[in-house]
Parts: sequence; C-alpha cells; structure tokens
Amino acid sequence: MSVNEEQVLAALRAVQDPDLHKDIVSLGFVKNVRIDGGEVDFTIELTTPACPVKDDLKAQAEDVVSALAGVTAARAKMTANVSTRGGFGRQAIPGIRNIVAVGAGKGGVGKTTTSVNLAIGLAQKGARVGLLDGDVYGPNVPQMLGLREAPQIAGEKGILPPEVFGIKVISMGMLVPPDQPIIWRGPMLHGAVQQFMNDVVWGELDYLVVDLPPGTGDVALSMAQSVPMAGAVVVTTPQGVAVSDVRKAVGMFRQLNIPVLGVIENMSYFVCSHCSERTEIFGSGGGRRMADDLGIPFLGEVPIDIRVRSGGDEGQPIVDAAPDAPAAKAFLDLSSRVAAQVSIQNTRVLKVVETP
Ligand SMILES: Nc1ncnc2c1ncn2[C@@H]1O[C@H](COP(=O)(O)OP(=O)(O)OP(=O)(O)O)[C@@H](O)[C@H]1O
Ligand SMILES: [Mg+2]
Repeated sequence: MSVNEEQVLAALRAVQDPDLHKDIVSLGFVKNVRIDGGEVDFTIELTTPACPVKDDLKAQAEDVVSALAGVTAARAKMTANVSTRGGFGRQAIPGIRNIVAVGAGKGGVGKTTTSVNLAIGLAQKGARVGLLDGDVYGPNVPQMLGLREAPQIAGEKGILPPEVFGIKVISMGMLVPPDQPIIWRGPMLHGAVQQFMNDVVWGELDYLVVDLPPGTGDVALSMAQSVPMAGAVVVTTPQGVAVSDVRKAVGMFRQLNIPVLGVIENMSYFVCSHCSERTEIFGSGGGRRMADDLGIPFLGEVPIDIRVRSGGDEGQPIVDAAPDAPAAKAFLDLSSRVAAQVSIQNTRVLKVVETP
C-alpha cells in the first residue's frame, strides 16, 4: 500500500527550521505533495533563496520521507518566496520586499565593499536584488562595480537602473557630473532620497541593499529615515576604536526603530599566501564581543585580501571575480546570514501582529 499525504506531512513535521524554530509543515513551507506509487515529490518553499541551511533541510526532508514504509523515492524541490515586513510599522515601497541598510559608526571600515559583495552574493543565490548607493558625499558604488553607464530615463515611468553582476544599481554618483562636489543639506537630502525611491523603476525586488553614508551624523540619520528599512547590518573592523563606534551606530538604528540584523567584522585577519599563517593585524574578536554585549547577532568575519581591494578599484567585486577566495566565501556566507536574519525579523513582526 502506498503512503498518503497525511503520513508524508506527519513525517515532515520532524524537520525544523533552525532559524525560525518551528517545523517546516507548521511554517507552511511544504507544498504540492504528489504521490505516485512509492514515489513522493514535494516542494519546500523557504522565505529566502539564500537560506543558509537550504541543503540541510532538503536532505533531512528527503530522508524522513524516504524512511516511510512503501516509499521508494522522495524528492524535495526547493523554492523561495521572500518574506516581507509589508506595511507593518513603516510605509513600504511597492515591489520592494526588504530594504537592508549597511551602516557603520566609522568611515573606511568596508561598508561599500560589504554592500556590493552582499548584494551580488544574494543575487547569486537566486534573489532579485537592487543596490542603492546612499553615500551622497562619497559615492563609491559605481567604481566598485565598474559602472560607467548612466541610468536611462524611461519617459513618464522614471529612472531605469542599469544592471551589472545580476543586480540593479542606482547611485547619486550617476546623477551628478564627476568632479563636481555635491553639497547636501538635511531637507534637500531627504527630498533627494525620497525622489530616488519614488522615481527609480526597480521592478520587483526581494532585497534592496542601501550603502549608508559613514557615521551617525545628520546625513546618515536622514538617509536611514528616508527609506523604510527591514533591518540594518553594521560593519566594523576589529580595532577598539571602530568597535566602540559600533555602539553609536546600533544606538542610532534602535532609536529609529530599525532592527539591527547583526555585526560584520571586516578586515578581521590576514592569511599569508606563502605560509598560510593567520595574522590578526587589528586584534581579533572585537566584533563578536561587541555583538554579544549588545545582544545582536554576529554575522561573521571577512579576512583582508588584496583582491578585495584591487577588485574594488577595478570594478571586479571579489564574489564574482574570485568566488572561491576565502574573503569571497566569507561575503557569500554573510549574505545567507543576512537573508536569514531578515526572515527572522519578518516572522517576529508577523507574530506580534497575530497575537492579540
Ligand atoms: N576585506 C578587505 N580586504 C582588503 N581590502 C579591503 C577589505 N575591505 C575593504 N577593503 C578596502 O578598504 C578600503 C575602504 O573600503 P570601503 O570603501 O568599502 O569602506 P567604506 O566603509 O565604504 O568607506 P567610506 O566610509 O569612505 O564610505 C577600500 O579600498 C577597500 O577596497
Ligand atoms: Mg563607502
């Protein structure tokens, strides 16, 4: 006798999503169960294609179903429907499911490098991604992506963002002639950002990554307020000074009611290409300690790699140019962890709304 759908679902209740702390059936992830004699096919629809435990969940699900009496083959098809905070809290932008800010208390810690590699990493994993260069004073995104193309104006529709490395990109740098300094004042900046958000034809996006200006001053604040954020990641380097600035950045996001998705420690250590010795140039563990201290997730560390720097200068982001390099792998892991944290935050918001 062949199994029935109820038995398959009962077996799949043993598979837990480690981030959402519930089984995949209760979470509503299991869809389209098809039973043909001993063969069982089903779909698992996750909240992000960049799920860090996607392969594990697939293997576990296929194992528990295969173990049922009468099953000769079990196949799980993995898909994703990216979750969103929707209109909860702040006014959402139609078509954009999650806006993720990348900020830092201190300049030069690798915010733009992280934004660029994070965005491409998410796209490589199958998400629809945009990148907004919100650093109005030092827009570096176009250079890091080798982007010289100006955005197209599509008549009434608005500004069409150019696409590179699988992501849609808009930068203030594209809208002003090079070598012409821009001076922004608070209200003007606010207006410009809002205009950006309304005039850019992003289409459907799972994630819009926003590279925030450095610091926690007016510009960063006004930028973070202009856009409804799903959450923010904070970038630091291991030095004491950078780490103590993280507190300020976290404080700023908390004040604005933007969930802090976690801390990334960049330029964490250096691995000698000759002897493979690991040197902690700026000390180590500062980012993790700070994250623990503040009660926010530590998302991981990225080593110093000359290819990160040269790739940035030449418009060849390392996750695309050398995806097997340890620094690239670190950025790719980070992109999964950031996506997972966004899903966790979105689930939390739903819970709050559901519970009377
Ligand atoms: N992991 C890394 N290994 C080597 N070089 C790196 C790494 N991360 C960043 N860099 C280099 O450090 C410099 C600063 O990085 P980046 O521009 O991303 O920082 P930022 O925080 O955006 O700076 P700003 O505050 O000026 O906007 C760049 O030249 C970049 O290529
Ligand atoms: Mg920058």
